[in-house]
Amino acid sequence: MKKAMAAILSAAMLGTLVSCGNSKNESKESENNSSNAGKTIGIAMPNQNLDRWNSDGEYLKQKFESAGYKVELTFSSGDATKQNNDIIGMIDNGVDLLLVAAVDGSRLSKTLDAAKEKNIPVIAYDRLIMDTNAVTYYITFDNESVGKMQGEYVRDALSLDTTDGPYNIEFIAGDANDNNAKVFFKGEYEALEDYIESGKLNILSGKKKFEMVTTPGWSTENAEKHMKTIIKDYYSDGEQLDAVICANDSTALGVIQALESGYNGKAPVIVGQDGDVANLKAIVDGTQAMTVFKNVKDEAGVAYEVCKTLLDGGIPAADFVKTLPVDVKYDSDAYNNNVKYVQSYILAPQLIDEDNLQLLVNAGLYKWDSNNKYLESAT
Ligand code: BGC
Repeated sequence: MKKAMAAILSAAMLGTLVSCGNSKNESKESENNSSNAGKTIGIAMPNQNLDRWNSDGEYLKQKFESAGYKVELTFSSGDATKQNNDIIGMIDNGVDLLLVAAVDGSRLSKTLDAAKEKNIPVIAYDRLIMDTNAVTYYITFDNESVGKMQGEYVRDALSLDTTDGPYNIEFIAGDANDNNAKVFFKGEYEALEDYIESGKLNILSGKKKFEMVTTPGWSTENAEKHMKTIIKDYYSDGEQLDAVICANDSTALGVIQALESGYNGKAPVIVGQDGDVANLKAIVDGTQAMTVFKNVKDEAGVAYEVCKTLLDGGIPAADFVKTLPVDVKYDSDAYNNNVKYVQSYILAPQLIDEDNLQLLVNAGLYKWDSNNKYLESAT
């Protein structure tokens, strides 16, 4: 009942986002500023391994190009050195603005100082860029809420408030070089901390700290390897594993694969993030319980508006959210990159499980396959 109500509420919310997005977007498109024609946006995405960065790159490119800008778009194969070189190349080519989703948020400082010297604005996309004052804005989702949603989902799925337990849980986090990974873990852990402290939830591996559960490159293979070791050491003698919180869907896939070999207990509740097609299939098949969906089209849309305003000589601040096509929170003291608080525009994530998959279709990003069973990308 609680779940059904949550689904109805979230359907209503997403519906608002989607319809609101459409109508305002249309009016924005029609007021393209021809004075920007000829300006070039440098977009640096981390890699092409996931559904999402391909989509982000594609939406951003389309958005800027249809408004008359030129776009240089790079993907850096998850390699921080390559991303530095890609960005240096874009600075040398004379881009007017840089929009960067960092491979390693702490390894761009020198390169971005060079951008600052040339008065090229630098905007952090999805991942905060650390240790530099060259970055002026940050567009992202509420990353702590992503983790909180995952933790609370597990709390409800295991009925932690109404049953005695104890239950066993493990955490698989993201890449240590991505600031987001820490924030997701914080949200996850804090949502379950009381149950862990009281002994209702046990972590048999003892891996309670972010540093102990990170996944280099956010890769499926590394998550699978890590989970296989945990299973071998702690869950191969009949112990029950009740839940695994995976920072995102690529790591969740690794965990699902690891469980297929070597684990004989009842399937745990697995949660992830992103709404990757393979994981939406796993949700239909029952091997994954939920994912946190972040509408990258909305994120790209907000990034576009911030960049465009800057290039037009505007200075986005708190009131700017009123002009945006989707519901966004402005926060100037939430995200500190070790040098300063970066002005941030924060979008709302959305919980997706087997009960509300249709929301993704309503958002226009996925469609049902010919058997009406699984979701596939609509683009
Ligand atoms: C993003 C996630 C993504 C992960 C791996 C994070 O920074 O917020 O959506 O799954 O990187 O690429």
